Amino acid sequence: MTLAIQLSSQPAESIAAEALLLPLHEGFATSDASQGASSPLLSKLDALLGNALIEHLKLHKPFKGKLGDASAIPTYGKLQAPYIIAVGLGKKEDLNAKALRRSVAAGIRAAMRLKLASVALAFESANSPELDDASSARLLAEGAILGAYQFDTLKGNAAKTGPNAYGGLKTLHIIAPEAQHATLQPGIQLGEIIAQATCTARDWVFDSANNVTPTYLAEQALQIEGLQCTVLGPDEIQQLGMGAFWQVAKGSIEPPKLIHLSYKPSEKAASGNSEPIKTIAIVGKGVTFDSGGLSLKPAGAMELMKMDMAGAAAAISTMGAIARLAGTPQAVKHRVEAFIPACENMPSGHAGRPGDVITAMNGKTIEINNTDAEGRLILADALTYAQKQCNPDELIDLATLTGACVIALGKEAAAIMGTPKVSQPLIDALLASAERAGEYLWPLPIYDEYKDCLKSPVADLINSGAKGEAGSSKGGVFLQAFVDKSRAWAHLDIAGPAYTGKDWPEVPKGATGYGVRTLLYYLLNLA
Ligand code: BES
Ligand code: ZN
Ligand code: ZN
Repeated sequence: MTLAIQLSSQPAESIAAEALLLPLHEGFATSDASQGASSPLLSKLDALLGNALIEHLKLHKPFKGKLGDASAIPTYGKLQAPYIIAVGLGKKEDLNAKALRRSVAAGIRAAMRLKLASVALAFESANSPELDDASSARLLAEGAILGAYQFDTLKGNAAKTGPNAYGGLKTLHIIAPEAQHATLQPGIQLGEIIAQATCTARDWVFDSANNVTPTYLAEQALQIEGLQCTVLGPDEIQQLGMGAFWQVAKGSIEPPKLIHLSYKPSEKAASGNSEPIKTIAIVGKGVTFDSGGLSLKPAGAMELMKMDMAGAAAAISTMGAIARLAGTPQAVKHRVEAFIPACENMPSGHAGRPGDVITAMNGKTIEINNTDAEGRLILADALTYAQKQCNPDELIDLATLTGACVIALGKEAAAIMGTPKVSQPLIDALLASAERAGEYLWPLPIYDEYKDCLKSPVADLINSGAKGEAGSSKGGVFLQAFVDKSRAWAHLDIAGPAYTGKDWPEVPKGATGYGVRTLLYYLLNLA
């Protein structure tokens, strides 16, 4: 069950919905049109309510029209909809993609607090070159579905509600003249696909580690229709010489899986390309539970480590969205290959020990001085494998790799890094995509000198350097040892924003689905 978004040409005042969203900029109550603050819909609704609407909004001080504000006003039978929900758009001059997404999400969440089943919103053109009507429609759909998200599948009444049940909210009507529907519909559909993929990633990250095992992730990948999917198990992982991956996986009774999902654009989709078709490989860290292994984490640090597969969730779910878009005019025009090393990091009699030296798939030997720096080990072999399998033009990995990244950038932002120079165009493009997608991403350096921290007295590399010194970049420099020097590669450390205590209208707290939107905006080259 998902929030349905329907186009309608009913007038706002007579549409059969339980609430009408009324987007307002800061300073909405001024009558000075030159400030661009007044809204024709506000004037119309105010008249219908006998001038009580503006009066109410003025009296209700917390509502200032700031981005994220929302205030519900009963209409006492003066309107078909029992409520108007005023939503803040922020300053008129700041109107952008984020403002559209966030404002509608705030309105949807206000409707959910009132336990409403349907809301309506009159579409308005943004009058901005960056925001054409189809993009605005897409952003409204994204914001509505992202904001409506609730994770309730583990509650006792799950059978009644089901996954992604969105409380009781069933429908968002977007009101626009019939003539506009053909322009808005593809935007809405794209927004739905992007947001639903984000919500699917959220579901997997929220769900507990006893449910979301490597086998479960593999099953989810195999269920994606229209893509080729191969899953390798423990025997194949060892036969391929993935000593680094196996070293992490072997301590758990859950069998590890190496998941490979493959998308090739149809000739029709590819022919729409202005540039030659690229092969883009995505690698996602899939540690379904990170206890730290024998270098055991303290209880507090372990509590949320079911989220250590957020990179895998983003990668698989992005592939799911790509599959849904295949065959539509909005299909991805590049070849995309996803590789997900999935395993648990557990202590046991079979577990890898601190001090063990293992050989990775690329032949390099690694001394493991800390079994809790496991993400870089499984990624090392997955990166080697990805490059061997498809020789990608671009290689992008997403991983909840270091606690240091949370210290550096907080829960708000992920870090991006890559081989200096060769990766810069890819990094710049991903930074721009993240900005448009409404996800915070910020660069960290990989200096040559950081390589010193990888020196081991006994092996080619050591898996963890000095604590408290540029931990995220040190994770990056370790991964770099497994990426061809000339390859465009970007590493996204998503340890902070993958799971957050912050509550943003379009990103309810908990699992965020971080990365899905940035990846899709990049792959679809969305404005
Ligand atoms: N999964 C953790 C990183 C993490 C921490 C993710 C907090 C999300 C929130 C990772 O495997 C880890 O334990 N990293 C170590 C690396 C260190 C031993 C070099 C860390 O950050 O302490
Ligand atoms: Zn760890
Ligand atoms: Zn980890």
